[in-house]
Amino acid sequence: MSKKILAFAGSNSKQSINARLINSVVGMVDFAEVDNISIRSFDLPLYGIDYEKEIGIPDDAHKFNDLIKKADAFIISTPEHNGSLPVAFKNVIDWVSRIDNDIFNDKPMVLLSSSPGKRGGLSSLGHAESILSRLGAEILGTYAFGSFKERYNNGSLDEEAQLEINNLLAKLEDKIN
Ligand SMILES: Cc1cc2nc3c(=O)[nH]c(=O)nc-3n(C[C@H](O)[C@H](O)[C@H](O)COP(=O)(O)O)c2cc1C
Repeated sequence: MSKKILAFAGSNSKQSINARLINSVVGMVDFAEVDNISIRSFDLPLYGIDYEKEIGIPDDAHKFNDLIKKADAFIISTPEHNGSLPVAFKNVIDWVSRIDNDIFNDKPMVLLSSSPGKRGGLSSLGHAESILSRLGAEILGTYAFGSFKERYNNGSLDEEAQLEINNLLAKLEDKIN
């Protein structure tokens, strides 16, 4: 039976460059089934302990958690907002962590980031690496795809990005197959 990868961008933007990067990367995977989702499809209020106590954990947090549980591996790309993860991404993670604090259960992950700037969201990538590994992800490697507008062309990534990402995908393939 083929292995399942859950892929998403940590962005709630309709025009997300990280979602476009994820779409290109998903097109490079031929060794597993990929479920490419958007966090925009999950209706989650801003996490708060009062909300949780009074109303409970939203159904969409359980739906997200179910997708994580069904996956054998993950490919995630985070944007950078003021040097860290966007609120929308952290919010999904915070909600799901209230169901299970070993969310990723030692499963492998390729972690990416992108921004229009040259550093490609490198500090957000570092924060995401620390948060997601604390929640059980085995991060096989990371890559920050900088200067998105110059290096992404109608779904194609420049040569350097293709090489770096192919290396990360090879590690993921080895790990799950
Ligand atoms: C509130 C805010 C803060 C931002 N801070 C950064 C930043 O610290 N570093 C950076 O490279 N880009 C920053 N940006 C620009 C984002 O990289 C850019 O909007 C990018 O398109 C976001 O990724 P997405 O399109 O996948 O949502 C910021 C954008 C916003 C709206």
